[in-house]
Amino acid sequence: MDKKLLEQSLVLIKPDAMNNSLTGYVLSQLSEFHTGLRFAGAKIVNVNRMLAEEHYAEHRGKPFYAPLIEYIIGISHYPDEPWKRRTIALVYQGEDAVQKIRDISGPTNPHVAREKRPGCIRSLGTIVPLKDAAGNPIGDRIDNLIHASANKEDAEREIKLWFVPGDIPPLMRIYPTEVSSEHYYFKPGKLYKEYEKDSICIVAPGDVVWKSDMDALRLLFEGAAASCTVESVAAKYLINSHTD
Ligand code: GTP
Ligand code: MG
Repeated sequence: MDKKLLEQSLVLIKPDAMNNSLTGYVLSQLSEFHTGLRFAGAKIVNVNRMLAEEHYAEHRGKPFYAPLIEYIIGISHYPDEPWKRRTIALVYQGEDAVQKIRDISGPTNPHVAREKRPGCIRSLGTIVPLKDAAGNPIGDRIDNLIHASANKEDAEREIKLWFVPGDIPPLMRIYPTEVSSEHYYFKPGKLYKEYEKDSICIVAPGDVVWKSDMDALRLLFEGAAASCTVESVAAKYLINSHTD
């Protein structure tokens, strides 16, 4: 099939969209009728801190990083109801998937979105002023309802972070996969091939795994540098498996 038709993008319907009952609205804006794009994957995720930090790794160290992590985990919108902390992760596939979804989403800042692109999804977002314990202003949080991959490279990294190959129908997978012949067990910052107390099995023989993850696991196990961290490989296997 034509490669252009297979382009994929990751969409996250963030906890503020859930909290405001805007899920249906976002899905309808992105529907195949409007965009020509098809679902390739979908899941409801109780985002844990490791996944949040890997997803927003590029923003580590910025002043808005800590509130951003609490936002995507769902703490900001469901401080006292942890079971309601959910994000919907979706993979859309089709021609110009990345750009089409960025266009419908609109500018990052909802105020800019309302001014420049009224009607886009993020024009329904809010900016929340933040205060420290003493009540002093410490900046803003941008609640903009949706995440959309910024380019094809980000889309690949993000889809492989949130989804295992088995979440996507075989004929819709566009990144190479490999069948593992080994066990890999994970503890924060550590990787084993045999069970260690308190480790979690992330890959077992026979599992279909992203090839780039298998390459990274082999290198990381040898202590060599890899294209990604062990946390970014492990995060997807731990989705919905435990709470923080
Ligand atoms: P995403 O689709 O969520 O990745 O948004 P984006 O690609 O339009 O923006 P970017 O990746 O730069 O930022 C990720 C998220 O961080 C945004 O959606 C905002 O919630 C938040 N963010 C980005 N820039 C700022 C900023 O300058 N101030 C604050 N408070 N938050 C920001
Ligand atoms: Mg971004």
